[in-house]
Amino acid sequence: MNTSGRASQAAIDRAHLRTLMSREEASFISARPKSAALYERAQRSLLGGVPMNWMKKWAGNFPVFVAEAHGAHFVDVDGHEYVDLCLGDTGAMTGHSAAPAVEAISRQSKHGITLMLPTEDALWVGEELARRFGLPYWQFTLTATDANRFSIRIAREITGRPKILVYHYCYHGSVDESFISISDGVAAARRGNIGPPVNPTETTRVVEFNDLAALDAALAHQDVACILAEPVMTNVGIVHPDPGYWRSAAELARRHGTLLIMDETHTICAGPGGYTREHALKPDMFVIGKPIASGLPAGTYGCTAEVAEEITRRIHLEDCDTGGIGGTLAGNALSLAAMRATLEHVLTPQAFAHMIPLAQRFAYGVAEAIAASGLPWHVTRLGCRAEYLFRPHPPRNGGEAAAAADFELERFMHLYALNRGVLLTPFHNMALMSPATTEADIDLHTRIFGSAVKELTQI
Ligand SMILES: Cc1ncc(COP(=O)(O)O)c(C=O)c1O
Repeated sequence: MNTSGRASQAAIDRAHLRTLMSREEASFISARPKSAALYERAQRSLLGGVPMNWMKKWAGNFPVFVAEAHGAHFVDVDGHEYVDLCLGDTGAMTGHSAAPAVEAISRQSKHGITLMLPTEDALWVGEELARRFGLPYWQFTLTATDANRFSIRIAREITGRPKILVYHYCYHGSVDESFISISDGVAAARRGNIGPPVNPTETTRVVEFNDLAALDAALAHQDVACILAEPVMTNVGIVHPDPGYWRSAAELARRHGTLLIMDETHTICAGPGGYTREHALKPDMFVIGKPIASGLPAGTYGCTAEVAEEITRRIHLEDCDTGGIGGTLAGNALSLAAMRATLEHVLTPQAFAHMIPLAQRFAYGVAEAIAASGLPWHVTRLGCRAEYLFRPHPPRNGGEAAAAADFELERFMHLYALNRGVLLTPFHNMALMSPATTEADIDLHTRIFGSAVKELTQI
């Protein structure tokens, strides 16, 4: 742990924190008998009592079961209403059940869901993706993970190189190659990596973000097919690139014959064209998933004309269905109808003009409360996403950000907010705005955050 991580942990009295946490847990349980009963029943049919293992990570003794969700709010089975600042960890950044998407989904679902044949919507979407994100050719998947996996395969195929490069503490979905981190200066499988097919050091090089010398040295081995990166790290708190970092990193990649894949699955929060468009970056490939179809399973990846030409030449018609890229349901009519509606009517420039000031408001309110409390924390923002970290200054890389993580404190902050009607992501302290989020929603969070830090610091 670095010194600023230690400083912020020392600022919290642990015994006091545990007393507050016990109080919050008791109040959570007593107010949610129906969720508790469903969770107990779920133990008999669902592994770990949840439909997907991450759902165990929510603060509280069990996950709240949802009755219904609309816009930026949802109601649980016990009748509590919440402001949703997690928004399905970006899958519902459009707001829950955004009306234009619901209309398109219900219309298309009456006219065929999947055929493994194209519909005209695919063209509209391809043309719009090219216009927004600046790359000419696109393919569809069901998840951002798959879009990353297929982009990596293409990069390997056309460069003839075995490895990829990722950043320490990155997250790009369940892409085997990416579960690597730096431990005591040495690359190793990331903690918690379940059943890796091979040791990830065989497939991957890993460096710290914002370290151009380390990047240069890693690429100099001439065995790296691609860099897979978020332009701003968002999965270990928000870590911005140094000014000029991406210009230099892209130049290094070009010089070493490595392709650059930008994963904008989260950084779409920067604006309608993602961070790359906002900052005029020029990746070779581009990935996005999660909110692109308003929460219906969909992902997509785009590439330059050069990449398109190289890969097209290598794929033979007879083998195109067994090459490890694609999927039966990928590019299905329903997802494409939802994607079209999302791009045309939901994640519009007007929506961002509403969402970004809300994230500014969130960051301003949290920063004021932090300053009033004297805690050595800070809040940072990327477009319509904001996040507070338990360290005084913004981190420059994943290692610094991870050193400030404090699981016990994080769970307290999340449960405190949940008990008072606000949902944050279960992974870190991220808040995301949707087109349906309001100033009142943000102000509710600000008040709750203020009272949480007051209780933490008044012993
Ligand atoms: C940056 C990034 N890329 C890709 C993914 C994978 O998305 P999915 O799990 O929907 O495949 C995630 C998921 O959190 C992500 O944060």
